[in-house]
Amino acid sequence: MAADDKSLPLRDSPYRIPQLGFGVYKALDDVCYNACLAAFKAGYRHIDSAQMYANEAEVGRAVNDSGLKRSEIFVTTKIMFPGQDEKSTYEKVMESVKKAGGEGNGGHEKPYVDLFLVHNPNGGRGAREMMWKAIERAKKEGYVRNIGVSNYGKPHIEEMKEYTQDWPPAVNQIELHPWCQQRKTVEYCHSQGIVIQAYCPLVRNRRADDPTLNALVKKYPGKTQAQLLIKYALQKGWVPLPKTATPSRIEENADVYGWEISEEDMHTFDALDEGRRGSIVTFCAED
Ligand SMILES: NC(=O)c1ccc[n+]([C@@H]2O[C@H](COP(=O)([O-])OP(=O)(O)OC[C@H]3O[C@@H](n4cnc5c(N)ncnc54)[C@H](OP(=O)(O)O)[C@@H]3O)[C@@H](O)[C@H]2O)c1
Repeated sequence: MAADDKSLPLRDSPYRIPQLGFGVYKALDDVCYNACLAAFKAGYRHIDSAQMYANEAEVGRAVNDSGLKRSEIFVTTKIMFPGQDEKSTYEKVMESVKKAGGEGNGGHEKPYVDLFLVHNPNGGRGAREMMWKAIERAKKEGYVRNIGVSNYGKPHIEEMKEYTQDWPPAVNQIELHPWCQQRKTVEYCHSQGIVIQAYCPLVRNRRADDPTLNALVKKYPGKTQAQLLIKYALQKGWVPLPKTATPSRIEENADVYGWEISEEDMHTFDALDEGRRGSIVTFCAED
C-alpha cells in the first residue's frame, strides 16, 4: 500500500499534509538525493528538510527528478537563525524556497515549499518574531503554502499572538515517541487545531533493547520495532518523520498500513512515557 494513503487537513488551508513524512537530517549530498528518490519510489510524498541540514538543494533536485508532479509532493523546510534584519531574514527564506521548492510545473510556475517552520524558539523573542514575519511574507506572496513552528511549547505559541494575525501556526514539529510524549504540549496544540509532527519517532534506535518494546514486537509477527514505533505515532494522530538513508529501511518504514496496533497495546506504549527524562533532543517549555 502506498505510504501516502493518509493525509491530514491543515488550518485554514486548501492543502493537506501526508501523514507519513520522511526525515533527511544528517543525509548529505547524493546520500540525501538518492534517499529521497528511493522514498518517492516506496510511496512517501512528504520530505522534511531544514536550512540547518544543508541538503535543501538535494531535496529540490530529487523533487525535480522524481517523475512526480510537484503538486503530488509535500516539502517542508525550516529556518533556525534570522539574518541581520527583516530584509536579510526574508532573503534567507527565499533562498530555501529556491533550493528545496523544486521547479513547479516544469519551471513554468514560481517555486514554493509546502510548509516552512521556525526551527526552534531559542534565539529569543526578537529572533522568533523576525523569522515568523519572514515566512509569513513568503506565504502571502505565494512562495510558501503553510507556516508553522518547531520545538515550541504553549508559552511560545501564545506569545505569537503579540506579533501575528496568522495564528495559530498550522503545525508544531516536536520530539515525540513513547518515552517522550510531551502531553501538555500535544493537548494544547490539538485544542488549537495545530497539527503535531513527531520527530525522532524511532528514538534514533536508542531504545532497541527496551523489554516492553521487544515484547510488543513479538505480538505482531513480521513487523519490526521501527514499524511499530511509526504505527504508534500514526495511531496517535501525529505526523511521524522517520529518517533513514538505508534503502531496505526506507521501504520497511513505509510499510505501515493495512494493520493496527490494538487499543490495549497502545496503552502499553502510552505507559512508557518518561516525560522530560525521556527526551533525547528537546522537551518544549510547558509554562
Ligand atoms: N525540528 C527539529 O528540531 C528536529 C530534530 C530532530 C529531527 N528532526 C526531523 O525528524 C527526522 C527524524 O529524526 P531523527 O533522524 O533524529 O531520528 P529517527 O528518525 O528517530 O532515527 C533515525 C535513525 O534510525 C535509524 N533507522 C531508521 N529506520 C530504521 C529501521 N527500520 N531499523 C533500524 N534503524 C533504523 C537510522 O539509520 P540509517 O539512516 O543509518 O538507516 C537513523 O540512525 C529528522 O531526519 C528530521 O527531519 C527535526
